[in-house]
Amino acid sequence: MPATRIVRASPEATKEASATLAAGGLVAFPTETVYGLGADATNDAAVAKLYAAKERPSFNPLIVHVPDLAAAQRIAAFDARALALARAFWPGALTLVLRKLPSCPVGLLATAGLDTVAVRLPNHPVARDILQAFGKPVAAPSANRSGRVSPTSAVNVKDDLDGRIDIIVDGGPCPVGIESTIVACLDGVALLRPGAVTRDAIAKVLGHAIAPLAPEAPARGAPLAPGMLASHYAPRAAVRVNAVTVEPGEALLAFGPQLPANAREAKAVLNLSPTGSLAEAAVNLFAYLRGLDAAGAATIAAMPIPNEGLGEAINDRLRHAAAPRDGAPRPRDAP
Ligand code: TXA
Ligand code: MG
Repeated sequence: MPATRIVRASPEATKEASATLAAGGLVAFPTETVYGLGADATNDAAVAKLYAAKERPSFNPLIVHVPDLAAAQRIAAFDARALALARAFWPGALTLVLRKLPSCPVGLLATAGLDTVAVRLPNHPVARDILQAFGKPVAAPSANRSGRVSPTSAVNVKDDLDGRIDIIVDGGPCPVGIESTIVACLDGVALLRPGAVTRDAIAKVLGHAIAPLAPEAPARGAPLAPGMLASHYAPRAAVRVNAVTVEPGEALLAFGPQLPANAREAKAVLNLSPTGSLAEAAVNLFAYLRGLDAAGAATIAAMPIPNEGLGEAINDRLRHAAAPRDGAPRPRDAP
């Protein structure tokens, strides 16, 4: 495939994106959380191309994106809890894992053969225009190569997927910056991935607390959330979390006004939010991990982030970035 074109969001770009999806092609587009890589969810050949472009294992199911609640209800069974969550947070950064309907038009490949399906109605004008114009469900994982951090700009997408996908629709930087919260409403309600919608906000709608997520909890690795591989969202450099000082050769991912005493010894410093705002830190997180990677440090030292509100999702991503790698060569080492 030739170099991938970046096209600025416009009515023409929406038309081209929709036609590309209809032809079985791959389109990256912005959502409020991160950029997604879209394929026609009802077309297994298109979805197979998507897995290949990302180098994603095809046992890891995709989120199906829809333009409205009615479209979601043609895919999955909504009980009262699911409906309450959808009404409260859609359009928005919440993904619901629900039982697939027998008449669900989504192909087996997009759901990795599970009898459940993840659905989301994003709140980004460009995403919504494309979904509306295309009119069919769009499978869209984050538009990064598997194992890398999610892209929050069109250029990030191009860095990972150039020549592997048809077009990138550029709608500017993502306003939230961290992926959607994933909640399963099956026999019970479970938080499968902390994300942009906070645990507290969900608890308020449900009227009760939602099961706390421990990294080793079965919900994270077991069939419910097959994609939650331990080392995920990883930059190329190693990551050390809760760092209060900088070791020789490290780059510093700072947070807040108070830097470690030896911060000036760091190879590079990027501050997620000098004022200590978690929302600002979420917006900057993935771009800064990519930036510190580019600075060439072998290790990124990440300062502690309060584990409240959006901080839970930020800490989750940092923990995954810090998890031991599988020993496979990182992309930088590959020939
Ligand atoms: O914000 C987001 O959610 C972004 C934007 C593009 O919408 N998408 C995203 O997709 O983060 P992805 O593929 O990178 O992460 C989706 C996660 C995966 O870990 C996958 O295993 C999980 O959702 N998932 C998908 N279907 C599932 C299912 N039926 N049951 C459990 N987990 C599921
Ligand atoms: Mg992803």
